Amino acid sequence: MYKLVLIRHGESVWNKENRFTGWTDVDLSEKGLEEARTAGEILKSEGFTFDIAFNSVLLRAIKTLNIALETMGLHWIPVIKSWRLNERHYGALQGLNKAETADKHGEEQVKIWRRSYDVPPPELDVDDERYPGRDPRYAELSQDELPKTECLKDTVERFLPFWHEEIAPTIKAGKKVVIAAHGNSLRALVKYLDNMSDDEIVKLNIPTGVPLVYELDDDLKPLKHYYLGDQDAIAAKMSAVANQGKKG
Ligand code: 3PG
Repeated sequence: MYKLVLIRHGESVWNKENRFTGWTDVDLSEKGLEEARTAGEILKSEGFTFDIAFNSVLLRAIKTLNIALETMGLHWIPVIKSWRLNERHYGALQGLNKAETADKHGEEQVKIWRRSYDVPPPELDVDDERYPGRDPRYAELSQDELPKTECLKDTVERFLPFWHEEIAPTIKAGKKVVIAAHGNSLRALVKYLDNMSDDEIVKLNIPTGVPLVYELDDDLKPLKHYYLGDQDAIAAKMSAVANQGKKG
């Protein structure tokens, strides 16, 4: 049996301001820094240790991982970063307030943009300053790989090659793995692991900064999963995420 730990980054400045973030490289809030420390403390106190970590190339997930690992005394383990673990690209919604967007377009439309499996938000123009083709960290990506927007299905498709080529073989080699990433890139992984339907995944909201443990069999099929920490507080955090798209 393998144990895989997933952590969504702690609260970011734009989570706090309730703005669509996607690939925008915002920092953690004070609360987010604290959540990252708490995640490290819980993992340590529950006896977890890691041999290797996988991370996105966005600051909020990088800092969350670094703080959690430092708290565990594991700041020295190898970390592999990939854009394939980035948050879902939120297209032209990036930067907009979620509640104001619901006031303007309706809660139903915002829910479709946030949670439907295959309806992408409006696209960015390539000359928009938010287009990732302008960012040197994505210089190696082909035109087809550079998103102008993404639905969750697109995120699953760009994440899965990294899972199959890098993460899954590492777990099967017996390494203890932690992945620090984002609400929707982790929803992409959970959908794949749990073989969830396109309708079921709509209801899944992942809270910030809480370790999610997957116990996997020899074929990496999930046996069970659970969040570490105060279960009532975690349930409240999950419904707070769901409610971010309500009218202001
Ligand atoms: C974002 O990119 O705005 C958040 O990190 C995830 O947003 P969501 O919960 O609205 O999909």
